[in-house]
Formats: sequence, C-alpha cells, structure tokens
Amino acid sequence: MYKLSELNQICSKCNRCKLNEGRINVVFGEGNINTDLMFIGEGPGSNEDRLGRPFVGKAGNLLDKMLKAINLTRSEIYITNIVKCRPPGNRNPEESEIEKCLPYLRWQVKIIQPKIIVSLGSISAKVLIDDNIKITKDRGRIYKKGNIKFIPTLHPAYLLRNPSAKKDSWEDFKLISKTLKEIRSI
Ligand code: URA
Repeated sequence: MYKLSELNQICSKCNRCKLNEGRINVVFGEGNINTDLMFIGEGPGSNEDRLGRPFVGKAGNLLDKMLKAINLTRSEIYITNIVKCRPPGNRNPEESEIEKCLPYLRWQVKIIQPKIIVSLGSISAKVLIDDNIKITKDRGRIYKKGNIKFIPTLHPAYLLRNPSAKKDSWEDFKLISKTLKEIRSI
C-alpha cells in the first residue's frame, strides 16, 4: 500500500489524460490525513492550478467560513477534488478524464479512511454517490456506502452565484457537524 506522499509523487507526474497538457500544477489535495472528514470538490480552478492547492480562490474562502461556522478548520479535515488538474476555461471535467483520475481518489480514500465524505457540487455527488442525484433536491442527506457516510452539499462557487441558497447549505453543514460529533463520541 502506498503512503499518501508516494501517491502524491506519482500523481504529480501524471499524464493519463489530456488535462496534463494545460496544467501548471497537479492539485493533489491537502489537510489532515488522520481525519474522519473528507471534502471532495470537482476540480482545480485557476488559483488552485497556480498554487497547487485545493480551494484557495473565492470559493475556498467561502468554504473556510462555512467550516468556521461549525467550529472546524482545514487542519482538521482533508480536501481534494474529483480531478487533480484544471480543466481548461474551468469547463466540467469530461467522463474520460474523471475515469482516468479516479484511481488517485480511490487510493486517497483507502489511505485516509474517512468516516464522512462531503461532496461539493453536482459533479462530485454524481461521481461519488449516484449518477441520478439532483444536487439541489437530494443534498443534505446521508447516503451510506460501506463504512462511509456521504453528505452531498452545494458547491461554494454555486453559493457565490446564488447567495439565497446559503440557508440550505447551512442546514447541510449542521448535519455534517452533528454526524461528526456522533462519530467522535463512539
Ligand atoms: N472548485 C473546486 O471544485 N475545487 C477547487 O479546488 C476549487 C474550486
């Protein structure tokens, strides 16, 4: 079994799909590797590509605020994305790109063994939970798969465009907090 640092090394040289051609950095993911709680977004944007870190732009700032509202910081969670390289022009990742990249995420999950995975946005929910998920309707519930509780919520970039949806997101974050507390008390 790889260590996370070894997997990061391998991933940093990845050319399994065409996204490697336009990238500045692979955005592998970061955070606490002993955590129970993992957040998975869609793919790096331009700030993330430039800095090689997930969620460092405006959406990332909002994510930090939402975490703070439930008394969490990034140092307590692990954050990564479905695809590790920026799709050009911030388009959605293509199915073939997702398929090529997923083994890295599967390894990350296998190594970190989170008890809760929060999927951020529609693509992440569809890939991780169920292709038929409609994020605005099906968010904010627990979907149990094996030993992991998946909680789909809205993407922070969506919340920046639709501030009135922040109240829904707050409900989801309260559920995340409650579920984490239950797990920690076991
Ligand atoms: N949006 C994502 O889905 N992931 C990031 O890392 C940044 C923005």
